[in-house]
Amino acid sequence: MTPQRATINIIAAMAENRVIGNLGQLPWRLPDEMKHFVRLTTGHTVIMGRKTFESIGCKPLPNRRNIVLSRNTNYASKEVEVAPALGNALGLLGPADEAFICGGEQVYRDGLLLADNLYLTIVHAEFQGDAHFPDPSVFCWKLLDQIRHEPDDRHAHAFTFHHYQRLRGD
Ligand SMILES: NC(=O)c1ccc[n+]([C@@H]2O[C@H](COP(=O)([O-])OP(=O)(O)OC[C@H]3O[C@@H](n4cnc5c(N)ncnc54)[C@H](OP(=O)(O)O)[C@@H]3O)[C@@H](O)[C@H]2O)c1
Repeated sequence: MTPQRATINIIAAMAENRVIGNLGQLPWRLPDEMKHFVRLTTGHTVIMGRKTFESIGCKPLPNRRNIVLSRNTNYASKEVEVAPALGNALGLLGPADEAFICGGEQVYRDGLLLADNLYLTIVHAEFQGDAHFPDPSVFCWKLLDQIRHEPDDRHAHAFTFHHYQRLRGD
């Protein structure tokens, strides 16, 4: 059966104190966490806020359809699609598409209201930061999977991948 609308996922990595970013950058360097992001999102659509897009150098993430949100109607890019609101971005998708809302804080807030799946990595440390992940517990989620990655010579911190599915009816 063809789905009625695109699948909407949120993908984020947050510290134990919910920090996701500081001064426009990620507060950590975790290559295997980055690989997880690439593996899940490749071939799909990524939707991100204008500041996150600028934080990655204003270049589209390769092998993905990139949609950047900005309320500034003059904001334009030759390399990505720009939408004035999350609803407009989602309106660009076909019913069989899969979209990953990939930050930052402002976009996660809107995205949490709509998401079918939440791919949330918890980095087991606390960081100083100016961007935070919103509290997802206001909705009901079912934990489908979690995998812990221990620290090693390339990863200063342990982290755990979680896959939650939205329980509808909330
Ligand atoms: N840990 C993670 O998983 C992760 C992931 C992504 C980003 N980050 C971090 O998060 C930080 C950036 O987050 P942020 O909250 O400051 O900025 P952001 O959400 O990336 O971008 C904010 C901008 O996006 C546009 N925007 C946001 N919501 C919108 C909406 N509903 N409709 C239309 N436009 C919208 C606005 O652009 P205009 O001002 O142009 O209107 C707004 O100023 C950085 O530190 C980054 O490294 C972390």
